Amino acid sequence: MRKLQLLLTAALFALPASASALDYQEEIRPILNKKCFKCHSGPRAKGKLRMDSPSFFQKRVGGDDPAIVPGNSAQSLLAIKAGLPASDGDAMPPPPARSRGAEPMTQLELNTVKKWIDEGASFEAGGATAATTTTPTEATAGGEAMRKDELLDWTNGAGNSLKAYFVGLDEANVKLKKEDGSEFSYPLANLNAESQALAKKLGGQ
Ligand code: HEC
Repeated sequence: MRKLQLLLTAALFALPASASALDYQEEIRPILNKKCFKCHSGPRAKGKLRMDSPSFFQKRVGGDDPAIVPGNSAQSLLAIKAGLPASDGDAMPPPPARSRGAEPMTQLELNTVKKWIDEGASFEAGGATAATTTTPTEATAGGEAMRKDELLDWTNGAGNSLKAYFVGLDEANVKLKKEDGSEFSYPLANLNAESQALAKKLGGQ
């Protein structure tokens, strides 16, 4: 859904959509659960690398003895070991365990984990970017709760929406600011009636 929304956003505003941040709980934990928790959970986790509890796991993210270097999957022991071939004694799961049925990550799983690390290895829902975002407000024209400093829903005539802050209104264009801070103008006439009314209201027209 999130990807779809971003695709629609890109099509609607013809601007590059910011990359969607991977969600730890939704996308990363299930992979680790399936492939690594067997030996890396609980107080007796192997290699003192406990992955089942974020508070323990995070102790090995960054710091002096990192299993994960945020922003750098190539330097992250976890991704390096998971990516080694079964012929390598340092591979994870360890080769002897593999012969007893412990499966390594698939290429897709490994790439997903690497991407999450490269994005900063955030444990917050929706990744690091979402953590700083205010709760979106219902953007119904005439609603009293809407404010300029809130992330609002904007919908165009075709029914596609994106979330952005209102910056200003100059004649025929509404100026909006996306979550990543980039500003852009959009023709007022291309928004649906509700969003047009919202822009005019916020713009004081
Ligand atoms: C069958 C048990 C088993 C499974 C499954 C397993 N590991 Fe391990 N892991 C170990 C053992 C034993 C060690 C400690 C010895 C070593 O470092 O080789 C270890 C150590 C590690 C270390 C090094 C920790 C440190 O700082 O020394 C990393 C990183 C790691 N595992 C990652 C993974 C990942 C990622 C997975 C899932 C793809 C995984 N392991 C699955 C048994 C396992």
